[in-house]
Amino acid sequence: MVAVTFIAVDGRETRIEATAGLSLMENAVAGGIAAIEAVCGGNAYCGTCRVYVVPEWRSVTGNITEIEEPMIEASGDDDPGVRLSCQIVVTPELDGLVVRTPASQG
Ligand code: FES
Repeated sequence: MVAVTFIAVDGRETRIEATAGLSLMENAVAGGIAAIEAVCGGNAYCGTCRVYVVPEWRSVTGNITEIEEPMIEASGDDDPGVRLSCQIVVTPELDGLVVRTPASQG
């Protein structure tokens, strides 16, 4: 299992045990992270699965992908750590990952 911590806008931290091979969004939903609404079900089309990867993890999670770009642009979210969690595949290398969730999904 891969430990991932979600930090809500109010600072509350929730740690889930994520399953490798599934997306971060799927793991968040399964783990009861309410801020990950994921309205489109993982198709990079709704922007309601956004997370902010904390600076020390950005080199591991990687940059915004081409698939994510249009939705993130449309959301107007310019946080430097913004990603669509439906496009981050959980791998063992992400053990200990920390992400914040946006106020708009709070
Ligand atoms: S679940 Fe809709 S963009 Fe990720």
